[in-house]
Amino acid sequence: MSSTPPSADPAVKLELRGLSKRYPGGAEALRDVDMRLAPGDVLGLIGPSGAGKSTLIRCINRLVEPSQGSVRLDGEELTSLGAGALRRARRRIGMIFQEFALVERLTVMENVLSGRLGYTGLWRSLARRFPPEDVEAALSLLSRVGLEGFTDQRADRLSGGQRQRVGIARALIQQPELLLVDEPTASLDPKTARQIMRLICELAAERSLTAVVNIHDVPLATRFLPRIVGLRDGRVVFDGPASELTAEALTAIYGEEDWRDTAADGDEDRHSGAPHTDREA
Ligand SMILES: Nc1ncnc2c1ncn2[C@@H]1O[C@H](COP(=O)(O)OP(=O)(O)OP(=O)(O)O)[C@@H](O)[C@H]1O
Ligand SMILES: [Mg+2]
Repeated sequence: MSSTPPSADPAVKLELRGLSKRYPGGAEALRDVDMRLAPGDVLGLIGPSGAGKSTLIRCINRLVEPSQGSVRLDGEELTSLGAGALRRARRRIGMIFQEFALVERLTVMENVLSGRLGYTGLWRSLARRFPPEDVEAALSLLSRVGLEGFTDQRADRLSGGQRQRVGIARALIQQPELLLVDEPTASLDPKTARQIMRLICELAAERSLTAVVNIHDVPLATRFLPRIVGLRDGRVVFDGPASELTAEALTAIYGEEDWRDTAADGDEDRHSGAPHTDREA
C-alpha cells in the first residue's frame, strides 16, 4: 500500500500546481491552476458553466487526464502514477456526483457496498461476498445519513435527496481522506439541497476529511463553505474566505452580467435575495 512519502508536508493535504487541461480539439478547460488544501479544509469551487469546475475535480483523481501540472495528495504525485498505484490512490479519494450515479436496479445496501471496492468493476464487486464488517459499516453509515430502514429499497424508488444520501454513504464507506463533490445539490429542491450540504459538511468535519465541493449556487456555497475558490475560463480568479466574496469578486468570477441571476441558474425555486435567512432546514 502506498503511504505518505517521507517528504510530505503534514500541513498540506492536497496541492495542485500549474494544473492545465486542454481537451482534444477543444479549448483550454483549466489554465495553470494552483491550489493548496490543508488537512480538513473544505473548499467550495464556484464559477459559471464551462469554467472548468468538473474538469478540475476530475483531474485530481484522473478521471480526466491533466495536460500539464502537478497534483499531490499527501505529497504523492498522482499525475505520474501507473494503473495499480493510481487505483490505490483513488481508494483514498471519495466522489459524490450531481446525478448520484446509483445503480437503479440494485438496493440501497448494494449501492453503498459497491463503494467498498473503490473503482473496481460493478460485477466484480457484486460477485464478491462482502465481509460482515463492511455490511456493519454500511448499516451504520445508512443510519448516519438518515436512511435507516431503507437497506432493501431499490435505488429507483428513492427521492432525489434519498438518492444523494446513498451516494454520500457509498463515497464514505471506502473511508476516503479526500472527498471530491461535483454539484451535489443541483438536482435537488432548495430545502433538500441545504440538508444535503449540511450533511456533507458535518460528515467531513466528523471524519476530518479534506473536500473540494463544486457548487454553482453561490448563496449555498457561502452559507456552508468557509473557503471559496472562483474559476473563470479555467483560471482561479478568487481564493479566499466566503466572507470576502464581495460583489466585486463575484463580478470577476461571473462577469459583468447580473451574477445574482447567474448564481440562481438551475434553482428556480430558490427564494432569491435571502440566502442567509432561511434557517428552517
Ligand atoms: N470531454 C470533454 N471534451 C471536450 N471538452 C470538454 C469536455 N468536458 C468539458 N469540456 C469543456 O471544458 C470546459 C470546462 O467544462 P467543465 O465541465 O469542467 O465546466 P464546469 O465548470 O463543470 O461547468 P458546469 O457548471 O456546466 O458543470 C467547457 O468549455 C467544456 O465544454
Ligand atoms: Mg460541471
